[in-house]
This record gives sequence, structure tokens and C-alpha cells, in this order.
Amino acid sequence: MTGSSGERVFIRLGPPPEEPNQFVVDGAPQAYPPDVRARLEVDAKEIIARYPNKRSALLPLLHLVQSEDSYLTPAGLEFCSEQLGLTGAEVSAVGSFYTMYRRGPTGEYLVGVCTNTLCAVMGGDAIFADLKEHLGIGNDQTTGDGTVTLQHIECNAACDFAPVVMVNWEFYDNQTSESARELVDSLRSGEPKAPTRGAPLCTFRQTSRILAGLPDERPDEGQGGAGAATLAGLRVAKEQGMQAPAVPESEPESRS
Ligand code: FES
Repeated sequence: MTGSSGERVFIRLGPPPEEPNQFVVDGAPQAYPPDVRARLEVDAKEIIARYPNKRSALLPLLHLVQSEDSYLTPAGLEFCSEQLGLTGAEVSAVGSFYTMYRRGPTGEYLVGVCTNTLCAVMGGDAIFADLKEHLGIGNDQTTGDGTVTLQHIECNAACDFAPVVMVNWEFYDNQTSESARELVDSLRSGEPKAPTRGAPLCTFRQTSRILAGLPDERPDEGQGGAGAATLAGLRVAKEQGMQAPAVPESEPESRS
């Protein structure tokens, strides 16, 4: 393109510099052995049967192959492509769009520190910097023992509990640098702290199977639901007798 005075301006297009831009990792499986393939086909068949068009099953199938490899590998992408009758380009275009699909090996626990605006100012930036130092790894890197992959993440719609840390997408609310350090230490020790709310924690691969839509065997003890911080505004509104303004009746549309 050209600038305001006609000079040529070169704009480099491509992924963010810190993000790997392809699904090729040394040692990644290129194809599944027959036994793995047969096992995955059983799961894939169950998932695909839920959709009127099989191509609609791509997102859960990507989670399924991620549960096998911990990230999207050439073998996993090819498996999705074959099962759904899609081209490799179609599968990798979708897989590279969503950040929940990983492009490199993932530890047993994916620790995501929210560094979006509210969490950042409430301490998320400090927690992320502290965990990098404590674990000796950078963003999107995994500890040598393979237990923790650290990642900074965007808003997880839990701003009322900021700053929030997610482990395998389960919530750890109102964190501090100290509590986050204790959390990752517990993960590495094999005795993980329980999430603040929601279902019990499981490994990244188990989480990926649940996200693929396969049965979630975790006990449901009514852990879900909105927390006190989320409902604070509603409580005050009720105490004050507030009501939403009535919706005005809409004028009938005039026809010309
Ligand atoms: S800004 Fe962190 S959960 Fe919304």
C-alpha cells in the first residue's frame, strides 16, 4: 500500500510474534496407529451423529484429538479432515482461529492467568509475572516435569471475581500472587487445590474429552450457579425496591 505522500509502505502480515504459526512440532505424530485410530473413530462416530451435517462436528472433534495428543497435531488434523469430509485447509483454518485449540504440547494442567483489563489492574499482571518467575517458564511454555503450561488469557467472564486464574478452564477466583504460587505448587505436588466453584479439577486431556461432548463423569454436587459477587447488584436492587422501567408498547408499523 502507499502512504499519505505516495511512498510505499510495507505491512508484514502474519501471526502475533509470540504465537507459533503452524501445527508442525518436532516429534508430533503424523498419523495415528490403527488401535488409536479405531478408538477415536468410536468416539467420533458418537459425536458426529448429533449433528444434521457432519461438518458441524468439527469443533468437538478438534477437542477429541486434542484429548489424545494434548494439542493439534498433523495426525489429529488429518483425522478430523477424513471423518468430516473437509479439506486440510478448512480444518486448520478453524483450529488456528480459536485459542482453546493448542499448537504445542500441553502440560497436565493448563494454567491461564487472566490479564485482560479488569483482572490486570486488580493484580492479574503481577500474578502472571510472578508465576513466570516462580515456575521459570514464559508464556505458553511448560515446566520440565510436564505438569504446568502457563498462559496469559483473555477475559473469562468472571470479572466480578478478579483477578481470576483458570486451570483447565476451572475457576480460581480472587487470586493473589501468593495464592497463585500455592496453586501451581499444589498442581506440581500431585495434590491439586480444588477450584473455587464449579466441577472438580481434572487433567487437560480429560477436560478436552468433556469439551468434545463425551460423558462428564465428575460428581455434580450443585457446585454451579452464580456467586455472591455476581448477584450483589441484584440483591441491592431488591433491597431498594428497584424495578426495570416498563417496556413502552411499540407503535404499530405504518404501511405505505
Ligand atoms: S477481565 Fe478477567 S475475567 Fe474478565
